[in-house]
Amino acid sequence: MDKGGEVSLPWPDDPAEEAAPELYLTREEREMLHGRSGDAVRRAMEIVVGLGRVFGARALVPVVSSQVAGVSYLNLGDAGLQFLGEWRDSGARVRIPTMLNPAGMDLQAWEEQGVPRAFALRQREVVDTYVAMGIRPTCSCTPYLLGNVPAPGEHLAWSESSAVSFANSILGARTNREGGPSALASAIVGRTANYGLHLDEYRLASSVVEVACEVESLADFGALGYIVGRLVRNGVPYFRFRRRPRALKGWDGGGLPGEPALSALKQLGAAMAASGAVALYHIDGLTPEARAGGALASKAESIIVDDLSPGYEGLNSSVRRIDLVSIGCPHASLAEIERVAALLSGRRVASELWVTTARATRDGAVSRGLVERIEAAGAKVVADTCLVVSPMKLLGYRSLATNSAKMAFYARSHQGLQVRFGTTERCIDAAVRGTWEWRS
Ligand code: F3S
Repeated sequence: MDKGGEVSLPWPDDPAEEAAPELYLTREEREMLHGRSGDAVRRAMEIVVGLGRVFGARALVPVVSSQVAGVSYLNLGDAGLQFLGEWRDSGARVRIPTMLNPAGMDLQAWEEQGVPRAFALRQREVVDTYVAMGIRPTCSCTPYLLGNVPAPGEHLAWSESSAVSFANSILGARTNREGGPSALASAIVGRTANYGLHLDEYRLASSVVEVACEVESLADFGALGYIVGRLVRNGVPYFRFRRRPRALKGWDGGGLPGEPALSALKQLGAAMAASGAVALYHIDGLTPEARAGGALASKAESIIVDDLSPGYEGLNSSVRRIDLVSIGCPHASLAEIERVAALLSGRRVASELWVTTARATRDGAVSRGLVERIEAAGAKVVADTCLVVSPMKLLGYRSLATNSAKMAFYARSHQGLQVRFGTTERCIDAAVRGTWEWRS
């Protein structure tokens, strides 16, 4: 989701309380801070250094990529757009590969989406402003599916909470959950403050989660994440599955997982980042730091999850009529789009059904004939956007079904929609019937 201004620390959550050490800056960094590289860089350095001082960092650290949230005009408004425009006009340019989080609309098909023209023009202006600073308008929450796969140990400045979780946990890279302005500032100066999840000690697990029940579907991974996120808040959970989920069986833990592990892990991390503020988790024997040993803190608390139904109950309302079905939170992979196409085969939707994904993934789905098959059923594959940051009220939707625990969580809390949460199959059935027919 588009978190324009949030910076949150992992457990333990207040290192600044311990001491206020000096923040060491190199000569080049000091010069940037004093405006020798221009006003835009000075402003960016002030943000990075300011955060470093607040969180007790001892130094800055170079970052290899940035991912900037704060893209939807719905969240930015005119004040945010003006702020970005001023920064651009003062000469702001990124110096490392930088990508954008989802915008508030499909940048090409906004009219078909029903987005009002006034909103669309402002949204376009936001994206153009970022592009003028040298940022790739990927408009996606899954940069790791778009060729940006950081290596273990690399430092990043990423904003989107589910992407942060994926980069830290599955890829073993290092990033705090940056706010939009701080990620942009890091992209401009190529550095971030070295605190929180950039440091070994904050990457140790604070709780061991024994999963004693079966975890099968993508929705099950989301329900598990929802439960654990609520329990551990901004902690670092270490999962032990009593029985390894089928979705994780073909994954040996190295690099970017293939399917179905990829989609399952996206759901798990996204849900924990939404119901809590989990930015890093480990899975026994699988994730990079768990495989390397030493990911557990000695005082880690113990949690047992033996039933996923509280997760399903917590995310479901009693609404029956479904206006819109959402698949693709986090943005859908090609395999997920293919699954939707297969489930819709020979059927026609009664509700709206949107599969949200990155533009490049959509292009791939077009060339494989998947978009054509989905559209033949009356559904849409929508790029560049996320329902949580789209003007849903203006579009007139009141109820939503989804296979994503994160979407279920935010559609209710941020968009005020009545929500149903369940498996992909149930969501597609609901789109075809126009109603939700199951108890949870
Ligand atoms: Fe992505 Fe939006 Fe979900 S940013 S993770 S589709 S809430």
